[in-house]
Amino acid sequence: MNDIVLRLHKVTKTYGGNGNIPLVEIFKGLDFKVKRNEVVGLFSPSGSGKTTFLQIAGLLDSKCSGDIYINGSKVNPKNDFQTSMIRRKNIGFVFQFHHLIQEFSALENIILPLLFDGTSKKIAVKKGQHLLEKVGLGKRMDNRPAELSGGEQQRVAICRAIINEPALLLADEPTGNLDQSTTSKVMTFLIELIKEHSISAIIASHNPIISQIVDKNAKIESGKIVYN
Ligand SMILES: Nc1ncnc2c1ncn2[C@@H]1O[C@H](COP(=O)(O)OP(=O)(O)OP(=O)(O)O)[C@@H](O)[C@H]1O
Ligand SMILES: [Mg+2]
Repeated sequence: MNDIVLRLHKVTKTYGGNGNIPLVEIFKGLDFKVKRNEVVGLFSPSGSGKTTFLQIAGLLDSKCSGDIYINGSKVNPKNDFQTSMIRRKNIGFVFQFHHLIQEFSALENIILPLLFDGTSKKIAVKKGQHLLEKVGLGKRMDNRPAELSGGEQQRVAICRAIINEPALLLADEPTGNLDQSTTSKVMTFLIELIKEHSISAIIASHNPIISQIVDKNAKIESGKIVYN
């Protein structure tokens, strides 16, 4: 196991430059590292490039240049198959809007990544139940997303993102549509799970509560990421 879970080297990203869309340079020669077990908060104004950064770190952007290493191995963005295998094995995502599958129960939603990876249903269900109990949803496992509150849905999304214990969790405004007290609760669960499973994380947000509970605070400045 490598001590540096994510490393970006000289990453450059531009948008536009064709038709009526002006060329914008979001990152220029960005270098960035996340160590094992480290939780980094990314706090920058709207439009500064947080989501773009998480997409690059999550290997979802094949149109950036530079080198990306996950657990010390260089990713070849031109190789879709390799990239998606690395992503599935190492990276979990939590989005502002949780994207849970409406037809499935909370438990079914979270065990899906394990079933995809070939875990037996019995083991997946046991692990899923344990996680949902941990985040206070032991009595809500069979509810569908529409039968859960916003904060409960977000907790389900967090369980889904970490159930196969990714090396790196990327969270984009994970509590963007929650009130302060629910944000506090959801974040406490998230950090507890991250620490328990030795996961590294990058959490992009505008919320000051989150900046108080991460290990390091960073921001995007002049096309680079700098620590505060
Ligand atoms: N597909 C695209 N084509 C052109 N420009 C884009 C595209 N996606 C994003 N941008 C621009 O890139 C900049 C960075 O966007 P990004 O979504 O990464 O910001 P953000 O920091 O996540 O903002 P927010 O806090 O509002 O979510 C913005 O100015 C945005 O308009
Ligand atoms: Mg964003």
